Amino acid sequence: MTLTGRKLSVILGGNTIVENVDFRIEEGQLVGILGPSGSGKTTLLRALAGFRPAQKGRVVFDGRDLYEEFEELKRSIGFVPQDDVVPRVLRVERALGYTAELRLRDFSPEERKSRVSGVIRSLGLYDSRRQRISNLSGGQRKRVSVAMELISRPQLLFADEPTSGLDPALEQSLTKLLKKLADQGRGVVVTTHIMSSLEMLDAVCVLDKGQLGYFGPVDGLKEFFEIDDYINIFSRLQAVPIAEWQRRYDRSGLRAEYL
Ligand SMILES: Nc1ncnc2c1ncn2[C@@H]1O[C@H](COP(=O)(O)OP(=O)(O)OP(=O)(O)O)[C@@H](O)[C@H]1O
Ligand SMILES: [Mg+2]
Repeated sequence: MTLTGRKLSVILGGNTIVENVDFRIEEGQLVGILGPSGSGKTTLLRALAGFRPAQKGRVVFDGRDLYEEFEELKRSIGFVPQDDVVPRVLRVERALGYTAELRLRDFSPEERKSRVSGVIRSLGLYDSRRQRISNLSGGQRKRVSVAMELISRPQLLFADEPTSGLDPALEQSLTKLLKKLADQGRGVVVTTHIMSSLEMLDAVCVLDKGQLGYFGPVDGLKEFFEIDDYINIFSRLQAVPIAEWQRRYDRSGLRAEYL
């Protein structure tokens, strides 16, 4: 499984929100999109997932044009939005059962049931399976949102700020879980502006004002941005114009290896 975005630009309401961005993810990888609020992370994520196509550029999923063949390819793609859309009055198991009915129409009831219990187990939701979603903690609810998308076993999972609003321990455990999902043979793309679980990412895409400042390994970030602490990436982005980061990135040799 490989997904690449090439020269993606998204224009919304007359403004260029994402400009000329390249991206790449392969099977087994957890890739993060990092950037200040309003830098275009959600917009890029939707363009890469095909849910709101970019006006310029293309996304290629296993050699096929995602936008041209979206109706077929979307079955292999899961998307967890920034705001929960899980039905809160339902109990966890029931909500997942409905999702299975909707998405696995050709399956027998037994097959759906076993898919639901598998997902419940793999996301650590067994003990809360009979609880109403409204009574769950934020972290549990996020896991239900991810579970819903995993029902159809997508090869590629996109999650928009899956760890926002979680305490640091929950944030780490959810990131670990997302990494595990990637290890099982998927690609997982997350957006984040939290820096504490960066080390678990296989690659990171840094956006500023809709443009790509860096795409490469996490352990290259400090040298590239000349910082001691990841948290300082944002102030470095403010201090140095994005065009300069792009010049430095092009000189770094990372493009050939990671994009
Ligand atoms: N439909 C739209 N029409 C016009 N502008 C939009 C639209 N959607 C988003 N924008 C603008 O695009 C910019 C990027 O938005 P986006 O939601 O992609 O940012 P983000 O990096 O995900 O931010 P956050 O970290 O706050 O979630 C923002 O300035 C936003 O106001
Ligand atoms: Mg966003």
